[in-house]
Amino acid sequence: MVLGKALAWCGGIVLSACIIVGVVLIAAYSYAIQPSITIEDASLTRFALATSPSTALGYNISLSLAVRNKNWATTMKNTEPLEAAYKFDGQQFDRVQVTDKGDKHTAKKTRVYRLVTSSDGGYVALGNAGVAEYKNQNATGVFELEVMVTGEVRYTWQFKKNKIEATCKLKLQLDSPGTAVLRFEKVKCKLAKQEKK
Ligand SMILES: *[C@@H]1O[C@H](CO)[C@@H](O)[C@H](O)[C@H]1NC(C)=O
Ligand SMILES: *[C@@H]1O[C@H](CO)[C@@H](O)[C@H](O)[C@H]1NC(C)=O
Repeated sequence: MVLGKALAWCGGIVLSACIIVGVVLIAAYSYAIQPSITIEDASLTRFALATSPSTALGYNISLSLAVRNKNWATTMKNTEPLEAAYKFDGQQFDRVQVTDKGDKHTAKKTRVYRLVTSSDGGYVALGNAGVAEYKNQNATGVFELEVMVTGEVRYTWQFKKNKIEATCKLKLQLDSPGTAVLRFEKVKCKLAKQEKK
C-alpha cells in the first residue's frame, strides 16, 4: 500500500516534469525571432559615373555582412537564396547572392560573408535627378549607398516561411591614395516586420 502510494506520487512528479519540459520545448521551437543583420566593415575604392552617357557606373565595393541567428534552439534554413542589392539614390546598380537556397544556419551562430563587387561600367538609371545627387555627393567624396538584404527562411519545426527584408544605409568615404581613411562604424540593418499569419 505505502509502496504503491509512493510510486504513484513519483509517477505524478515525473509526469508533471515531462509536461513542463514539453511545454518549454514547444515554446522554444514554435516562437522564432528574426535574425540580426549588420555591416561590420565596408570600403569603396571607386564610384565613378561616366559623364556621357551617365548610365555607366564604375565601382569597387567590399562589405562584411554579418547574419546572426538570435534564437537559442531553432535552426534557420534558407528557403530562398539570401541576396544583397546595392542602390544609389534609390536605383539598384548591382545584386549579389549571399547564400544558397537550402543553406542552414544554426542557433546562436553569427556568420560573416565577405561580398566583393566591382564593375567597369555597370548600368544604372539615375535620371537627371540622380545625376545631380551623384554630383553633390561626388563633391564631398562621401557616398550614401543602400544595401537591401532579402531572402526567405524557415525555422526548425515550423511550416511557415518568413520573408527577410533588411535595409542597410551606408555612408562610404571614397578611399583613394591621398585621403585619410575614416574608420568604418558598424551599421545595423533595419529589418521589415515579420507578417503575422
Ligand atoms: C577595382 O576592381 C578591379 C577588378 O577587380 C581591379 O582591377 C581594380 O584595380 C580595382 N580598382 C580600384 C580603384 O580598387
Ligand atoms: C567626381 O569627382 C572627381 C574628383 O573630385 C572628378 O574628377 C569627376 O569628374 C567627378 N565626376 C562627375 C561625374 O562629376
